[in-house]
Amino acid sequence: MIGDWLDIGPVGQIPPGNARTLPVRGGEEIAIFRTLDNRFYALVNACPHKSGPLSQGIVHGNVVTCPLHNWNISLKTGEALGEDKGCVPTIPLKVDAGRIYLQRSAAIAPRGGSGPEAKAA
Ligand code: FES
Repeated sequence: MIGDWLDIGPVGQIPPGNARTLPVRGGEEIAIFRTLDNRFYALVNACPHKSGPLSQGIVHGNVVTCPLHNWNISLKTGEALGEDKGCVPTIPLKVDAGRIYLQRSAAIAPRGGSGPEAKAA
């Protein structure tokens, strides 16, 4: 949907191999990851195992290792890899002119109206 993108700031706010979190009023916190080769992904910041904070995990390739029990979660699909089973929701993300955008309808809880950084479209 055109106009459905939420500007969450410049790419430079996240160093390669790191993540930042975005609180969502009325919804689950989002983790935004930057891989070492400068790709960006957004997932709900809760491991599919026991809701560990994925934003504090180790990023390698397109995978984050959960800090609690070392499950590996695909940043692309949100799915647990290997023997482990589970999936965390992903949020569509795009980078345009050095800024990161999240798909508003996916980032903001449907009943929530607007998040802290949301502005009326
Ligand atoms: S909570 Fe993530 S591996 Fe257990």
